[in-house]
Amino acid sequence: MSIPSAVRIFEVGARDGLQNEKQMVPSDIKVELIERLVDAGVTSIETGSFVSPKWVPQMADTADVMAKLSRRDDVTYAVLTPNMKGYDGAVASKADEIEIFSAASEMFNQRNINCSIAESLERFAPVTEAATAAGIPYRASISCALGSPFEGEEIAPAAVADVAKKLYDMGAYEISLGDTIGVGTPLRTKQVIEAVANVIPIEAVGVHFHDTYGQALANYLAALEMGVARLDSSVAGLGGCPYAPGATGNVATEDVVYMLDGMGVDSGIDLKKLVKTAWFISDFFGRPPVSSVARALKGKLN
Ligand code: HMG
Ligand code: MG
Repeated sequence: MSIPSAVRIFEVGARDGLQNEKQMVPSDIKVELIERLVDAGVTSIETGSFVSPKWVPQMADTADVMAKLSRRDDVTYAVLTPNMKGYDGAVASKADEIEIFSAASEMFNQRNINCSIAESLERFAPVTEAATAAGIPYRASISCALGSPFEGEEIAPAAVADVAKKLYDMGAYEISLGDTIGVGTPLRTKQVIEAVANVIPIEAVGVHFHDTYGQALANYLAALEMGVARLDSSVAGLGGCPYAPGATGNVATEDVVYMLDGMGVDSGIDLKKLVKTAWFISDFFGRPPVSSVARALKGKLN
């Protein structure tokens, strides 16, 4: 399998990234973040989630953010939805796309959405049926695809493939494999992708890796070598997951784009504009971006 010549980056900073921040981010800042990312060339972007505000307070203003955005026709604005209530919010906000999510870890699923893997798939059935009837595309993500945050729980590649196949059969156009706690290594990454690609087309496989152990870029390279062309990443390395102990940021979009640029793989994203955006949101929080590339390029942006 050769490395794809172009990839689709799905930018998750405004949702997966910000959901974990304690400091509440005003919706105007979220809107500016999203618009800057789009201006940098991002064409698929997660803008928020319609989940319980008691569970994830930072996402409570997703409807406001969607309403305030100046939207472009060539950009997909996506939201995460856990159930029909979330789906209704997504439709009311005119989201272009929705995202459903399950996990390869039973324990994580209980903590994250208060139900088993099997129940989560049942719970999503009405959402996928309604979205199909309305012509709204949906992608699905599988958390803990490369490892569980809970001691003693093993995640077998076959278990990931089983959930991936079920979500694909429910009509998801993409199955994004999440390394929620960033424990994966390149060999493990290849084994899991191989198991998943045995049951669904490789074109439908996406990767969503966190950089907790500094392995994310190596794992992305491993995924690219397997022919994966759908990469999730988060500007400034924002993020984590409130229900996965030890989860730190998603891999930074700047680091991924720098690597892709160096390999001649087209992402459509302007690295300098992206790095400026990483500094914009990091300045809001009063700390530097987690991204090595954003820090290295800071003085070289003009
Ligand atoms: P529950 O408590 O089991 O559900 O939560 P419930 O149906 O009993 O509802 C409880 C309350 O929530 C009710 O309100 C509902 O109305 C309300 P109350 O009567 O108590 O005032 N509610 C909602 N409010 C707004 N929007 C909704 C909604 N649904 C119910 N959609 C539930 C179940 C799924 C709602 C809850 O567990 C939840 O919201 N969880 C969110 C979890 C979440 O967002 N996690 C982060 C996303 S996953 C992730 O980040 C991983 C990923 O990035 C990949 C990776 O890195 O691995 C995707
Ligand atoms: Mg994540």
